[in-house]
Amino acid sequence: MKFPRDIYTEQDARPDTLKHLGPLRRLAGAWESRTTGRDINPKADGPEHRDYSERTEMLPIDAQSNGPQLLYGLRYHTHILASDEDATFHDQTGYWLWEPDTGLIMQTLSIPRGQVAIAAGRARPGDRRLVLRARRGTPGYGICSSAFLEHAFRTDSYRIEVTFNRNGSWSYVLDTMLKIPGRKTLFRHRDENTLFRVQQPQPNPLWRKVAKQRRAKRR
Ligand code: HEM
Repeated sequence: MKFPRDIYTEQDARPDTLKHLGPLRRLAGAWESRTTGRDINPKADGPEHRDYSERTEMLPIDAQSNGPQLLYGLRYHTHILASDEDATFHDQTGYWLWEPDTGLIMQTLSIPRGQVAIAAGRARPGDRRLVLRARRGTPGYGICSSAFLEHAFRTDSYRIEVTFNRNGSWSYVLDTMLKIPGRKTLFRHRDENTLFRVQQPQPNPLWRKVAKQRRAKRR
């Protein structure tokens, strides 16, 4: 990977994130599942299969600069309930980020088990399929877990595949590979679901401000 020699000079960022999200534009908004998602998770007596419902919100954020690297993105929150339980089954927050200059896509994940990760992939604006990966021990796009998880459910890799469907919904398949003491092979913790838009996205904070100032000037 080649990076610019000048690591300080920033690019001019555009104020309207929704227009510059490239392949992530289709993810902006609030989403809910209609049919149930499917989870396979590890239990003492073998894999447990559970159905779940989901709500995911993806809010456009203002453009972010790391020196010359310019990123547009969404801040997300996913809340999941098992079909037969009121307590939260899975909760996750993070960012989806897109670098137009290189086609880099990143998803950051934060899960309240004491676990964070950054997955990365590449895509072009019109792509209908995104694949991102994170691997434990990788300097750039890794997985960092609490000491207990490292001991009992070591997460070696994470892969997400997103498919944008013709009807505007999108589907994902997650494969999280876990090393569990006493098991010879890695455990495939798999989750899949299809999400339908229930709300259009709000513009990002800066663009809301710019729009307000423009309206005030016109009056
Ligand atoms: C739709 C997404 C997901 C759902 C519904 C889900 C659900 C679950 C459930 C129900 C368990 C078992 C919890 C228990 O026995 O107490 C579990 C375990 C686990 N999950 Fe997930 N998970 C999801 C995604 C992820 C992701 C993306 C990661 C990490 C990158 C992850 C990492 C783990 C780990 C390390 C465990 C083992 C800890 C344990 O069983 O106590 N999960 N997950």
